[in-house]
Amino acid sequence: MAIADFELVLFGGSGDLAMRKLLPALYALCHDRHLPASARILCVGRHSWDTPQFLAAVDKESKPHVTADALDEAEWRAFCTRIHYLAFDVSEAGCYGQLATCLRPDAGLTRVFYLATPPALFARICHNLALCGLTNANSRVVLEKPLGRDLASARQINTEVGAVFIESQIFRIDHYLGKEAVQNLLALRFGNILFEPLWRREWISDVQITIAEEIGVGTRMGFYDSAGALRDMLQNHLLQLLCIVAMEPPVSATPDAVRDEKLKVLRSLRRFTPTTLSQHIVRGQYRNGYIEGQAVPGYRNEADANPQSRTETFVAVKAEIDSWRWAGVPFYLRTGKRMADQLAEIAVRFKPLPHSIFAQQSGSFQANSLVIRLQPDEGLNLNLMAKTPGDGMRLKPVDLELDFRESFKMPRMDAYERLLLDILRGQLTLFMRSDELEAAWEWVEPILDYWEQEGSMPAPYAAGSWGPAAASALVGRDGLQWREEALPEI
Ligand code: BG6
Repeated sequence: MAIADFELVLFGGSGDLAMRKLLPALYALCHDRHLPASARILCVGRHSWDTPQFLAAVDKESKPHVTADALDEAEWRAFCTRIHYLAFDVSEAGCYGQLATCLRPDAGLTRVFYLATPPALFARICHNLALCGLTNANSRVVLEKPLGRDLASARQINTEVGAVFIESQIFRIDHYLGKEAVQNLLALRFGNILFEPLWRREWISDVQITIAEEIGVGTRMGFYDSAGALRDMLQNHLLQLLCIVAMEPPVSATPDAVRDEKLKVLRSLRRFTPTTLSQHIVRGQYRNGYIEGQAVPGYRNEADANPQSRTETFVAVKAEIDSWRWAGVPFYLRTGKRMADQLAEIAVRFKPLPHSIFAQQSGSFQANSLVIRLQPDEGLNLNLMAKTPGDGMRLKPVDLELDFRESFKMPRMDAYERLLLDILRGQLTLFMRSDELEAAWEWVEPILDYWEQEGSMPAPYAAGSWGPAAASALVGRDGLQWREEALPEI
């Protein structure tokens, strides 16, 4: 589907996200001939630069993030001619005149306002845009996470942005939904007959969703220390993945059909009780350790860290879904920084055999599992038992592996490229609706309140490990192990 001519106004245009992700993704779309010839990008920032100065910064900070096979010097130059920079204080309505003079006075043009700013500015920017007559029925607004700090602030964002834009104009980004493997999970579940009969409590023992990062907080201490892993990753990315795994088949792939089903999952998440708050959640904070053989500092010793910080850099939660399909199936969600490996995956683990006819060597029988790999490589592994060649009936676990890159031999599309394309096409399926956002906060907020009241410290874990020991105990109490703990030693 071709993209209609547009202007994209990028607030936070000189920020980290714009430089590392958004401008490289826009370049990639340009390189792949998705952008109409006259489409323009107006970056708004606080640095008092002119456009040539801004472009010098883009060259330095953005260009290195363009994938090598897409980078072509002449194309990069041509892409840069689409970019204009405006320096003004976005909270001041009086400053929007200069934006107005830069925008083309064509009511038919799609106008995308991308707010890659702190959420505290969302309401003001939307209000000022409306006040200055810059919005119309062809406008869209994109909201970057974090979408609030708690339920009240998320509601406030919804109300204030909703006072200017109607729901179908609002694109709440969760970049995990733009990842190839997540879309492939939709294809796997709803494009094949094979898994649906098995996708339920009768056959599935548990689901583990892990997003483990080797990186620490880097230069983002200011943001991260006030957010923590629960707000940064669990409230959004992990819960969205859970929704895609657990939702009922939607009637179609239209935005509301999919989002209605995700919402039902969020609403059927079992609420925490005082007991489950203390037993089903583990939080941790990394200490000094080693990543790939290199010594790395603990969280409180990072640059700009508060040496008394109680912020969690790891969280693991046992979630339960009260529905006919999922009653009794635990969903373990886990994420952390400075972990043993850089990986994101969803492991759906099936129940053990009810009865084995094979006189099996002890310990070698493994229940089937399906692992959807999101990162670093994208693909699927279906773990089955097979006979080892030769004499005797000895069974061994083997993997049926699908590597998306190998199978399709096509360049991958970065999550932001895909989501930007959807925004430009007005396609909302991969974006969160206001009620989904609020339902996710409703479930997560009691955890934050509990931590606040209880006042204990996150459990320490060594950088380069799989998190605190309590995380193993979380699944161990249910007689289970995390996937890496269950893997045979090589
Ligand atoms: C972001 C978080 O939303 O996702 C970061 O704010 C995190 O803390 C990042 O590092 C992980 O995304 P990805 O795509 O690199 O796994």
